[in-house]
Amino acid sequence: MLPTATHPSPSVDYAAVLAQIHEQVAHALGRGRVADYIPELARVDAQQFGMAVVRLDGSVFEVGQARTPFSIQSISKLFALIMALKSDGERLWARVGREPSGNAFNSLVQLEYERGRPRNPFINAGALVITDVLCQHFVVPEMAVVEFLRKLSGNASLSYDSSMAASEQGCSDRNAAMAHFMRSFGNLRNTVPEVIEAYCRQCAIEMSCVDLARAMTVLANHGAIPGSNKRVLDVSSAKRVNALMLTCGAYDASGDFAFRVGLPAKSGVGGGIVALIPGECGICVWSPPLEESGNSLVGSLALELLTTWSLNSIF
Ligand code: DON
Repeated sequence: MLPTATHPSPSVDYAAVLAQIHEQVAHALGRGRVADYIPELARVDAQQFGMAVVRLDGSVFEVGQARTPFSIQSISKLFALIMALKSDGERLWARVGREPSGNAFNSLVQLEYERGRPRNPFINAGALVITDVLCQHFVVPEMAVVEFLRKLSGNASLSYDSSMAASEQGCSDRNAAMAHFMRSFGNLRNTVPEVIEAYCRQCAIEMSCVDLARAMTVLANHGAIPGSNKRVLDVSSAKRVNALMLTCGAYDASGDFAFRVGLPAKSGVGGGIVALIPGECGICVWSPPLEESGNSLVGSLALELLTTWSLNSIF
């Protein structure tokens, strides 16, 4: 049964909401297809499901395998973007756009007629430009992303999985093709192998739903780490990142995802989706099988249940 919330209430019983969602998605676990174009990703158990909410006051709510680390893949693009914005600010937008692509995340076609400037920082081509920016600023860019995520999540032991990174690097012809193409337009400053290596390692970072939901509280809190005076982004940059997630965070399915879920979110082919409710909480859901656009099928459903049924009283 779906929960019925009839009275607007600022304090939500997230433990009950998550338990209910867990029950409601149980029948769909395993539906969709686990990503197998990166061999190491195909080995994951398709039945796993976890979800976590971390409120701005630090309280944590979780269900299922919310403490199991998984490969964050494209979710890393969100945090790499924040880092590149911190270092390059407005200059970044000369190299990458901010429009939904309407194409697959690894599509090459648009790059040619848009002269090597990717549509947005979340498709693979855009993320490669962002990684190139990080290569300009950090000696070991993937470790800079790891350090940043350790700080945001409060988990000092997280890192990337070298076998996953090597597995992706071994089949990265398509990403390398995009990188070469952009380099031919002067939109890549480092060599293609340097950028691809850093990119594959950054995508292979492993985090749990609880780690990621906590990391997302900085964006729910308009760019400041909750409970500290530390600001990661100014308020308007945080607003822009959230807007990009809403419009481009679920690739070719972004419009439908925004219609169904209505939250700024970012997905990864490891089956994770991060999201946030501004002023309220960071969220992460994980279920490995994907729908055809590359977003977690059950993860999208869980978020839709959260916003369309459980939390409609606070929107
Ligand atoms: O470059 C790739 O294809 C992967 N490392 C990341 C793709 C990804 O996560 C797209 N997400 N839905």
